[in-house]
Amino acid sequence: MIMDNSDILLESNLADLVHRGKVRDTHTIGEETLLMVSTDRISAYDVVMPNAIPDKGAILNQMSVFWFALTRNIVPNHLISFAMDTDTIDIPENVKRRSMIVRKADRIDIECVARGYITGSALQEYKDTGTIAGIDMPQGLREGDRFKDPIFTPATKAETGHDENISIDAMKDIVGEELTNTLERITLEVYDFAHQYALERNIIIADTKMEFGFIEGQLCLIDELLTPDSSRFWDRGLYSPGKTQPNYDKQYVRDWLGAQGWDREPPAPELPQEIVAKTSIRYREAFDKLTGTKLR
Ligand SMILES: Nc1ncnc2c1ncn2[C@@H]1O[C@H](COP(=O)(O)OP(=O)(O)O)[C@@H](O)[C@H]1O
Ligand SMILES: [Mg+2]
Repeated sequence: MIMDNSDILLESNLADLVHRGKVRDTHTIGEETLLMVSTDRISAYDVVMPNAIPDKGAILNQMSVFWFALTRNIVPNHLISFAMDTDTIDIPENVKRRSMIVRKADRIDIECVARGYITGSALQEYKDTGTIAGIDMPQGLREGDRFKDPIFTPATKAETGHDENISIDAMKDIVGEELTNTLERITLEVYDFAHQYALERNIIIADTKMEFGFIEGQLCLIDELLTPDSSRFWDRGLYSPGKTQPNYDKQYVRDWLGAQGWDREPPAPELPQEIVAKTSIRYREAFDKLTGTKLR
């Protein structure tokens, strides 16, 4: 789905489109580098909406860039440059602000998820079996409760459809014990740091997904990092466990879709301008609070 002219431009004139995700487009530039472009597309319940959210692509891209810089002392990452900060690539400014240049990695096909609070698929597993990622959990946890210590819950990366949660033992069978332990440790370390950082700025990062790969033999963080698309952001001021927590960025969209009685099957209905505008403001608020920098 092409959401704006700049995407068309990029596709035809620039670099090879190698992957089109729900929200981001990846292009190759040369042998060893990729251009990752965040679009203004938004998905809800895994379905891409017909509307674009103004500035969402720039916000998510620049948020990843921000976190990559802040966490590089914990783990190296694939970022070469925020596209606005380099002349080496000739693309329009309105695409540059949504783009980053990264090193191509040998991806590890596991989604590394850190969770500080019980919600989503972890809550479902807990209700079903009393475990999370196959590990016994204390009784009596309510939806949205904070864990005593954050937990690591890996998933396989499915080429199509939904990613599947797996146990830590199953991950060891796939990538080995040593790498599993390393990824668990790094994922939790990055999460702990970011969670604390965000909490002080009144955003709760309830959980987040990271991807890793090897670049010239070195283990690196890849993909996007600690964005509202790869994480659950909650408003600290509204946090109240025991029920479903409002989503920081997508709640207006979800509420509106719910009120329409949409069955969550594509196509999604066109969002009203008011919902689009309010949602854009929410992303901007998250960016401003977290980064304290000017959106470019
Ligand atoms: N540095 C990198 N090297 C190789 N692949 C990467 C790198 N960074 C991210 N990727 C991969 O690029 C793809 C980006 O896709 P994405 O836009 O997230 O869509 P989706 O996950 O829905 O397929 C993912 O498969 C991700 O694992
Ligand atoms: Mg992805």
